[in-house]
Amino acid sequence: MAAEEEGLTGPDEARPAPEPEAETRPEPAVEPACERRPEPRSVPELLLGRPPMARPLPSFDHEAAPAEPGPLFVDWLATALDAGVLDPQAFTLSTVDADGMPDARVLVLRDVDAAGTGWNFSAAADSPKGRQLADHPAAALSVYWPQLGRQVRVRGTVERAADVVAAAEFATRTPAARVGALVGRQSEPLASPAEYDEAVAVARRRLEAHPDAVAPGHAVYTLWAHEVEFWQGDAQRRHVRLRYTRTGPVSSPEWSRTLLWP
Ligand SMILES: Cc1cc2nc3c(=O)[nH]c(=O)nc-3n(C[C@H](O)[C@H](O)[C@H](O)COP(=O)(O)O)c2cc1C
Repeated sequence: MAAEEEGLTGPDEARPAPEPEAETRPEPAVEPACERRPEPRSVPELLLGRPPMARPLPSFDHEAAPAEPGPLFVDWLATALDAGVLDPQAFTLSTVDADGMPDARVLVLRDVDAAGTGWNFSAAADSPKGRQLADHPAAALSVYWPQLGRQVRVRGTVERAADVVAAAEFATRTPAARVGALVGRQSEPLASPAEYDEAVAVARRRLEAHPDAVAPGHAVYTLWAHEVEFWQGDAQRRHVRLRYTRTGPVSSPEWSRTLLWP
């Protein structure tokens, strides 16, 4: 079988194009540097020679891990802040819609209880994520802190807190965040930036007239963790992974710990 048929060489390799005659060979075009456009760059080209986590990373002594995930998360978060991780409170919330289609977006983590059972975030209940959580009250939360090569993964059921809790949380938000929430209509199609500016102006006036106004549908959610995994990356792929699995109820959680293959 010919090498080309076996797919070992491409057609161009099998039959190289004949060289043009010396006298007809065109002069190489020399473009002035300022007119030279950068070569088109592909994703593999851009990422070539950039393996992830190729830097000194902290160790993770899983044997010294606490009995519950909460204290370990606080410890890792403090270490992330010390290491200069930007926005360490930003996490990805993954949900599924009514058709079972996954969705994900970045949100801000508001709080985690002492045991690491309840993970709080806020969102508009009438946004896509809010509707997805109403249809299917379960989610996954994940963070990656690149400077440390650390990932935390949480899975569980989601519960919407009472409106009074949401109102109290709303009061702690910056004016800009409150205005944004009062504008609402998150993720709806926007006809033009001017339409949004108008809605912001209306929301600002409303907030000035009623400083205690709470955006309708502003919701605080708690993800009740069934599992919390702490993942310490290693450039040689000798990642250390420790998964906590909740065995007790939310009111009196108990956790088992399992070391996972990388
Ligand atoms: C760093 C960061 C923090 C964010 N925090 C929030 C947040 O706390 N709440 C929120 O609703 N959206 C937040 N967003 C915007 C969401 O990623 C998303 O665009 C928006 O909530 C609409 O999502 P949905 O269409 O899935 O409902 C944040 C985005 C980034 C990049």
